[in-house]
Amino acid sequence: MALPSSLLLFLLCSLPLLSSSAEPNQIVLPIYKDSSTLQYLIQIKQRTPLVPVHLTIDLGGRALWTVCETGYISTTIRSGGCNTTQCQLAQASKSCEPCSWTLYGPGCTQSDTCWRFAENTVIRLAAGAEVATDVIAINSTDGKGRGKVFNVPQFVFFCARTMNADGLAEGVTGMAGLGRTKISLPVQLASALNLKRNFGLCLSSSTTTNGVVIFGDGPYNFDDSNILKYTSLIVNKVNTQVQVLRGEASPEYFIGVKSIKINNKIVNLNTTLLQIDNRGFGGTRLSTVNPYTVLETSIYNAVIKAFVTELKNVTRVPAVAPFGACFNSKNIGSSRVGPAVPSIDLVLEKDVVWRMFGANTMVRVNKDVLCLGFVDGGEPTFITSIVIGGHQLEDNLLTFDLVKSKLGFSSSLLFRQTTCSNYRLMSEA
Ligand SMILES: *[C@@H]1O[C@H](CO)[C@@H](O)[C@H](O)[C@H]1NC(C)=O
Ligand SMILES: *[C@@H]1O[C@H](CO)[C@@H](O)[C@H](O)[C@H]1NC(C)=O
Ligand SMILES: *[C@@H]1O[C@H](CO)[C@@H](O)[C@H](O)[C@H]1NC(C)=O
Ligand SMILES: *[C@@H]1O[C@H](CO)[C@@H](O)[C@H](O)[C@H]1NC(C)=O
Repeated sequence: MALPSSLLLFLLCSLPLLSSSAEPNQIVLPIYKDSSTLQYLIQIKQRTPLVPVHLTIDLGGRALWTVCETGYISTTIRSGGCNTTQCQLAQASKSCEPCSWTLYGPGCTQSDTCWRFAENTVIRLAAGAEVATDVIAINSTDGKGRGKVFNVPQFVFFCARTMNADGLAEGVTGMAGLGRTKISLPVQLASALNLKRNFGLCLSSSTTTNGVVIFGDGPYNFDDSNILKYTSLIVNKVNTQVQVLRGEASPEYFIGVKSIKINNKIVNLNTTLLQIDNRGFGGTRLSTVNPYTVLETSIYNAVIKAFVTELKNVTRVPAVAPFGACFNSKNIGSSRVGPAVPSIDLVLEKDVVWRMFGANTMVRVNKDVLCLGFVDGGEPTFITSIVIGGHQLEDNLLTFDLVKSKLGFSSSLLFRQTTCSNYRLMSEA
């Protein structure tokens, strides 16, 4: 059957529109917690033909990077090109360079390659990677087993060498950066799919049920306005991860913790460490890469001391690494929000407090032992004074407004008799 050519043209043009139909206002992607590395993982599809790509989420990461050196087959991968818009958005090498042994990518046949460090923040490795583009497809779920696929044809990513993925969970070949840059996953999805430059993050504490990341505007929950408190996201003008990038702003999310309270009592600590200094040191940031909150040594010691004092009626037992304060769990009651222990408050703006309860502060290391889930950052690696890690973020709804530079946080959803894995059920109730 011969179709009139004008109709054929019409059909071809409408196909991309039909496949993504009306513009979504949210894209919902499940997040899985890996039981051996405690990394939080997502799955997207990439390349032509599309294949599943597993990535570790890096909340403060600059961009999406994935290994290209081995097993990357695609007819649509393109070099980011030297001095192109993509190259500039990536804040990549100003003077493009020829590929050397450090680089790998589709543009390596040309003399000028737009490259950038792909940062593996798990093992603290940054290696040169070519800026490239390829198709990605995201299957947005509705929580009832129905999915809808959205394509971004020229998604900018860093094409990395195989060794770049060392230390990532099994089957994972890269990281999905959600940071405050022009090419992070939320920002590129927002521009390609006309979403608001916002996202919500809800990490599950379980390795058997998933959490979610929701790209686009809120509300992310039927009751956001009642459960969220807000604080400003602060820009650290100095990149804290990679020494050679110190000249540019950090893509990570910092918040202004003014003091810490345990059982409503102020912990005596050096508050200068809570400020970001002109070298970019100090302050507080959020991380999905650190499984537990990491504290600068003097803050760590002060927090342990205050917590142990408040819990003095409970038998302390030998510490189990990496934790410093462990207790006999038989002496600790339970509550809706986990083990009944003194609350830990991060005091932010005036009257804005992020209260953490037992479910987020305590870690069960065995049947009889519960440990305070904070770890000592030690001197040599100390840069940021407080890095709030995954365990402390789980079963909390966090919202990131990249336009207004605001963080919304719910504190423990367990209080509301729900968890991050109930996310869709909750919002559709
Ligand atoms: C890229 O742009 C810069 C500044 O505009 C220029 O100095 C440089 O020569 C350009 N590089 C190439 C390879 O075109
Ligand atoms: C999208 O996800 C749903 C389940 O959430 C699944 O049934 C469907 O096959 C997926 N589609 C694609 C193209 O991956
Ligand atoms: C507090 O920390 C700052 C920054 O590290 C340091 O310069 C200062 O000496 C400390 N103050 C006290 C009293 O330890
Ligand atoms: C110890 O104190 C905590 C916090 O005040 C309390 O929740 C717990 O029930 C007490 N435990 C015992 C054994 O008295």
